[in-house]
Amino acid sequence: MIIEWTEENSVGVKELDEHHQNLVKIANKLYDFTRTNVKDRNKLIELLNELVNFSKYHHSIEEKYFKKFNYEHIERHTKEHEKFFVNMNALIKKIEDPKSDFSQTTFEVLDYLEDWYLNHLNDEDKKYTKTFNENGLF
Ligand SMILES: [Fe+2]
Ligand SMILES: [Fe+2]
Repeated sequence: MIIEWTEENSVGVKELDEHHQNLVKIANKLYDFTRTNVKDRNKLIELLNELVNFSKYHHSIEEKYFKKFNYEHIERHTKEHEKFFVNMNALIKKIEDPKSDFSQTTFEVLDYLEDWYLNHLNDEDKKYTKTFNENGLF
């Protein structure tokens, strides 16, 4: 396990905490993968797609609330979400290249996810807690 979700990581909204817990779960599946199925490129791509698809869903819910509550950092936050997909897609493309050493790229992905977890989830996401709670969303 590279990442663990604890109460300290809470954004103060149950639905969104559950999303984050699920994202941590998928990231940890990816970490376990690097220690076991290192040769199965398709399985790896499948896991990455699961992560990207769930992130897409999760970001769309956050952004729905931003609009609903007229959140002040909507632009900056939405840009970060867009950047996440650009970066993840570039990494997935690298892994899909049959000539690539994809096990190396997997570590890049894990590094990137760890960084995302620290800087987006535990910093940018937490900034919406006040606005969301003030609007009755817990
Ligand atoms: Fe989030
Ligand atoms: Fe976010």
